[in-house]
Amino acid sequence: MFAAREDSGNGRAAVIAGVGGWVPSGTVTNHDLAARLDTSDEWIRSRTGIGARHVVEPGRATCAMAVEAGGLALKSAGFPTVDAVIVATSTPDRVLPATAPEVASRLGLGRIAAYDLAAVCTGFLYGLANAAGLIATRAADSVLVIGSDTFSTIVDPMDRGTAPIFGDGAGAVLVRAGDPDEPGAVGPVCLGSGGEWSELITIPAGGSRQRSEGTSPAAEDYFIQMQGRKVYRHATDRMVESSLTALERAGWQVGDVDRFAAHQANARIGVAVAERLGIPVERALSNIEQVGNTSGASLPLLLADSAAAGRLRPGEKVLLAAFGAGLTWGAATAVWPDVTALSVHDYRA
Ligand code: COA
Repeated sequence: MFAAREDSGNGRAAVIAGVGGWVPSGTVTNHDLAARLDTSDEWIRSRTGIGARHVVEPGRATCAMAVEAGGLALKSAGFPTVDAVIVATSTPDRVLPATAPEVASRLGLGRIAAYDLAAVCTGFLYGLANAAGLIATRAADSVLVIGSDTFSTIVDPMDRGTAPIFGDGAGAVLVRAGDPDEPGAVGPVCLGSGGEWSELITIPAGGSRQRSEGTSPAAEDYFIQMQGRKVYRHATDRMVESSLTALERAGWQVGDVDRFAAHQANARIGVAVAERLGIPVERALSNIEQVGNTSGASLPLLLADSAAAGRLRPGEKVLLAAFGAGLTWGAATAVWPDVTALSVHDYRA
């Protein structure tokens, strides 16, 4: 497993300076789903912990949500300049070009480096590691890392295996160069992958492999296909493993963890991982009931929501863990800084 060490850049760490979260106001409740699918509110809640998911309005997509969340993170940080924008997404507005340059332009950030990163639900952690690398190598002094995904466009609305799980949203974190020992410094980011399991979560059509075959794909091949039960087992195992690696590299004990921020894939997965790590379940942060699995947006949205609601407080030691298609996975540590998180939605009350 790759681990970016926080001391690899002559003491320059990536320090969290601002955080923002944004979800569209449109919601699809479990009852809405039960009206068209062979499912129920009771089944979805008990198997996933999800009560509703948000859906972006027609004509808007990943870039628009990334601009909203990115703008909130910049406001949260009160930060005038940004040297790079990374957008973690698997639902870019177009196959090409990448979404990030348009995000940077629409945020008025000038002619800066901007690129997309494809690691699906682990994308935000991969993005944080990238940002730490840009800062350590002095390619950048500040980086805006955004996770934004519009899974409503790639989920088959008639597939009861995936339609209950995923929702749209965006989250963003502004990191700046700082000291590895100051609050907000992102600790070692431990990342991994297992490409031999790529078929467990996949969209078969639309990529170069299918296009070069020259065949006409079935309509369902343009939608996400997931082998839920196998994914569940991998998600649990991989997040436990990477969390233990991240804790070890940070020099933390499990008992040091005040807050556990796991990718919001399924509430049962989060509980299972916390229990296996020995972290009391009440220390696990969660917003899955309100937003579902927002893929690349999941972790920064969770951080923004939790900090804005006072469930994640300055000085608390937080362990981050994620897992996604690829397969990909990762974990990282940070002491939560004194930042004013901004999260815009209507479900926090
Ligand atoms: N509503 C009602 N019943 C459903 C259903 C739904 N939405 N989806 C499946 N079922 C049924 C199945 O047909 C099956 O019925 P059977 O026992 O009569 O054959 C039963 O429920 C169990 O199906 P299974 O697929 O084994 O359910 P599960 O407990 O594994 O839950 C998931 C399904 C998708 C919720 C679960 O596997 C999961 O969360 N996996 C991880 C997904 C994930 O995290 N993906 C993103 C990774 S980043």
